[in-house]
Amino acid sequence: MGAGVLGVGKFSPEKVLTNFDLEKMVDTSDEWIRTRTGIEERRIADDDTDTSDMAYYASVNAMKDAGVQAEDLDLILVATVTPDYPFPSVACLIQEKLGAWNAAAMDLSAACAGCMYGMITAKQFIESDTYKNILVVGVEKLSKITNWEDRNTAVLFGDGAGAVVMGPVTDGRGVLSFELGSDGSGAKELFQDEPGIYMNGREVFKFAVRQMGESAVNVVEKAGLTKGDIDHLIPHQANIRIMEASRQRLELPEDRMVKTVQKYGNTSSSTIPIALAEAYEDGRINDDDIVVLVGFGGGLTWGAVTLKWGQ
Ligand code: ACO
Repeated sequence: MGAGVLGVGKFSPEKVLTNFDLEKMVDTSDEWIRTRTGIEERRIADDDTDTSDMAYYASVNAMKDAGVQAEDLDLILVATVTPDYPFPSVACLIQEKLGAWNAAAMDLSAACAGCMYGMITAKQFIESDTYKNILVVGVEKLSKITNWEDRNTAVLFGDGAGAVVMGPVTDGRGVLSFELGSDGSGAKELFQDEPGIYMNGREVFKFAVRQMGESAVNVVEKAGLTKGDIDHLIPHQANIRIMEASRQRLELPEDRMVKTVQKYGNTSSSTIPIALAEAYEDGRINDDDIVVLVGFGGGLTWGAVTLKWGQ
């Protein structure tokens, strides 16, 4: 028995903040943002919508898609760096909202690679036959930790949530291979402190290009596949130039990479599940397709997963 994705869901707040809006807030331009990052607009949650609300909405959509009821959930894992409170966890807050009373619940912190860490943690519990239905959520309200006066970072981030329900699938489908990694010596390249997010953009860029490419190649090899077998590459949506570098490293045509960065910006741990849900809802992902997910983030952390789609 393998561990795979039973359902996917996403949530994006309604409010759109365009590059032109940002031109009025900091010394920047639509042209600079688009050419350097690929971002055109991002979504911003209102004051009444916190991280757990977005996580809840995405979870409801994923559970509906999976056909899984709240009482059937055994574990809830929420990857976030912007929880409602230091404690209790967002996972406990959504357990209550969902009424998932049979689930254990916890958050995990691996920044933008968080959802990869969550999915691989879920896989271990499923394959060891410990738990059956596991909800994994990537969710961020980055707008609440963004320094809106710092043009270096304010233009990059957005809010949103993506969720997957994972569970047992037919042998040969589901997670075929994975890689997780961390390098704490790079902690100060990307971190949060008052008054916002600090980022050494150039160093993070170099690390991301190198690591995303390497991890993606590694998981494809570990799965016993070749680059040509990849149907969909879903990289962390931080910057189109970093994403393009991974695509080129895998020698994939443009239409094999899922791209949402232009619409949502970098929503950290939620970019990968949002892009996955969007590609699936668009009918682009079919049974037995090979999907490669790859992310990197603050920590520094990284993670990649090869999935064979379907149950
Ligand atoms: N508008 C206009 N100019 C800007 C802006 C802006 N919004 N932001 C920075 N600049 C200026 C800087 O002040 C600097 O000016 P200077 O040269 O006079 O000092 C210049 O632009 C910087 O230019 P570059 O270094 O050439 O910019 P670069 O092409 O590296 O792009 C960027 C910067 C987009 C931040 C890039 O380095 C990058 O994407 N890095 C990775 C970021 C990333 O992926 N972060 C992931 C975060 S994941 C997580 O865990 C939250």
